[in-house]
Amino acid sequence: MPITFVPETQTFYLDTDNTSAIFRVYDQGYILTEYWGKRIHHADLTRLQKVYASGFSPNYPGAVDRSWSLDLIPTEYPVYGGGDYRSPAVQVQFPDGSRLLDLKYHSHRVLEGKPELPGLPHLDGADCTLELTLCDDYSGLEVVLSYSLFEKIDIIARSARICNKTGAPLKVTRALSASIDLPRADFDMMGLYGAHIRERQLDRTPLRHGIQSVESRRGASSHQHNPFAALVSRETTEFSGDAYGAALIYSGNFVISAEVDSFDTTRFQLGINPFDFSWKLEDGEEFVTPEAVMTYTDQGLNRMSQNFHNAFRHHLGHTRIRNKVRPIVINNWEATYFDFDEEKLFDIIDCCKGLGIDTFVLDDGWFGKRYNDVCSLGDWVVNKDKLPHGLDPIIERCEQNGMSFGLWFEPEMVSEDSDLYRAHPEWAIHKEGRPFCTGRCQLVLDLANPEVLEYLKKALSDVLANHRISYVKWDMNRHITDAYSSALPADRQPEIYHRYMLNLYALLDYLNKRFPDVAFEGCSGGGGRFDAGMLYYMPQTWTSDDSDAIERLKIQYGTSFAYPPQCMTAHISASPNHQMGRVTPYDTRARVAMSASFGYELNPLHLTDEEREEIKNQTARYKKIAPLVTEGDFYRLISPFDRNCCAWMFVSPDKRRAVAVYVQKLGVPAWPRNLVYLAGLNPDARYRIEEMDGEFYGDELMHAGIALPWMGDFQSASFTLEQID
Ligand code: DGJ
Repeated sequence: MPITFVPETQTFYLDTDNTSAIFRVYDQGYILTEYWGKRIHHADLTRLQKVYASGFSPNYPGAVDRSWSLDLIPTEYPVYGGGDYRSPAVQVQFPDGSRLLDLKYHSHRVLEGKPELPGLPHLDGADCTLELTLCDDYSGLEVVLSYSLFEKIDIIARSARICNKTGAPLKVTRALSASIDLPRADFDMMGLYGAHIRERQLDRTPLRHGIQSVESRRGASSHQHNPFAALVSRETTEFSGDAYGAALIYSGNFVISAEVDSFDTTRFQLGINPFDFSWKLEDGEEFVTPEAVMTYTDQGLNRMSQNFHNAFRHHLGHTRIRNKVRPIVINNWEATYFDFDEEKLFDIIDCCKGLGIDTFVLDDGWFGKRYNDVCSLGDWVVNKDKLPHGLDPIIERCEQNGMSFGLWFEPEMVSEDSDLYRAHPEWAIHKEGRPFCTGRCQLVLDLANPEVLEYLKKALSDVLANHRISYVKWDMNRHITDAYSSALPADRQPEIYHRYMLNLYALLDYLNKRFPDVAFEGCSGGGGRFDAGMLYYMPQTWTSDDSDAIERLKIQYGTSFAYPPQCMTAHISASPNHQMGRVTPYDTRARVAMSASFGYELNPLHLTDEEREEIKNQTARYKKIAPLVTEGDFYRLISPFDRNCCAWMFVSPDKRRAVAVYVQKLGVPAWPRNLVYLAGLNPDARYRIEEMDGEFYGDELMHAGIALPWMGDFQSASFTLEQID
């Protein structure tokens, strides 16, 4: 059993194949963190816990001597009120106004597998789970900490359940999912920041004393920061060194922070953002935090990412398609924007015949009076001026041409100019009587209101149940402002963001279950909600509204730190590119897009015969390599954040097949020798490379490298490897 409790020393050992987490019930029942890192024996680490008194670190009641202070003890789930001045994991307010807590060991149990997290997306298929119950004896409040182990992939999933057994209501003002104290501070913190059309750029900065954090206050995980961060040693590279990674399975306001104290210990925490949050918990009720996915490796960043990839590919979400090859899609957004009608769509669809594309997705503009982005969101009925015979003829046309049909929605939004808003202005998030913000001329529907949830279930089901729709693109084009719900009483207003998220998850869960054959694709102005919460219900996300292949190098490379490539939708778009005006060769656009869930974002009517042939080759090649992209181990080889080029590769789990891609950004004059070193191969196996003559040993390709030809701006190369015999 990977979870062991040694009663003599009151120590818990949580072991995965390559890591150990160790903590112990300490004086009076406080939980003391002893270790998290590379797997070690079940040693008695009590000797390491010698702490010396420090001035201004207070002693808790009944402490053995003046050195015993919660301000100095590394702990699993710190609280406010016991003398620990660092950031707590949990804070509550009792009816008398008191905010003091003192959580101590109460009991524990070890379960086979892993219980569901009610109403929240979560990993499944864990080997076992430790539930550790802590209690505040004074009030009766309990907190159950849950640790689920995925042995083979070195993942621990953590969450907390706050149980009000106090006999009176209380307010939860902070409820993080996980907190860990590490006995060192010589880390770099890595995170993914960005903006619309420039998502998930890599940030790596040394920790300093104090708190540093990434967070969202926007009601969505956001383009600006992603709910993923890592603490890595200064010398950590892609292939070696310590990396502690954490990702939150949540799509709303989050925080991930690292707090370095005066004694050079680091408190690493993540969970729902306490900013503008509180939750009223009646007596007998529980509050469950979202799940945090934690991993450690001493094998560098690629291994850290592969651990996340394995968790999200094999243990997250919709079981039917989560590990399946996704359809090749053509989406009409950049081909037509809002300017289409039945005839134009017929022409586009007919033109796709024989290209090897699986699904045609009709984007924004098919409903209400939607000729531009200022109206009609919320009115999910077909625009009869554009499509006089409804969606059915479009669907039939797709099927006649060998494709299935997909449809765009933006369910969480309402336009001021819409029948829905005219009928229900109170369903939009805002405070009546106060001027409110708009974004893209639209408001956010108040999903904290159960009536809105029911409306959306019906409106979407009506469309999905009455048409043969195999694919849904679910968009979300602004963030929450004016956070006020007309459905919530005054003392529950700070619950709006989390209630919104819970009902959004309930809606997605309902639709997933009612329409199990529909493949859902997430989107939020591109990749504004690229998080593990959304991936649970919608296993791929439109990675960015920037479809330029060269910009996508950074965006997709950055995204891969936490999320598997198959979860990223990447389409070949027209050249010059609509966002950047950049002219990029077709094969480079193809190589970048094919390293993800692949498709097209262009007008097939504008293709030359030669380009049509090229597309046929691309779709045939993608069908060949898609299993590798879906199931293979992904390796980052050269970072576009560091260099003027970029390279990556996929290796099949048995190491017999691999595909590597190299892309030159700007060409460099007088650059006679350029090598790329592969990774993840069997060193002793011989490989044939489709694009080169000869046979090569795995170790040769990994350590001596492949010499690349000189390449001009935006040129690229790929290498398709197959083991011989
Ligand atoms: C933003 C998305 O990211 C685009 O792909 C497209 O669907 C537009 N919205 C439509 O309004």
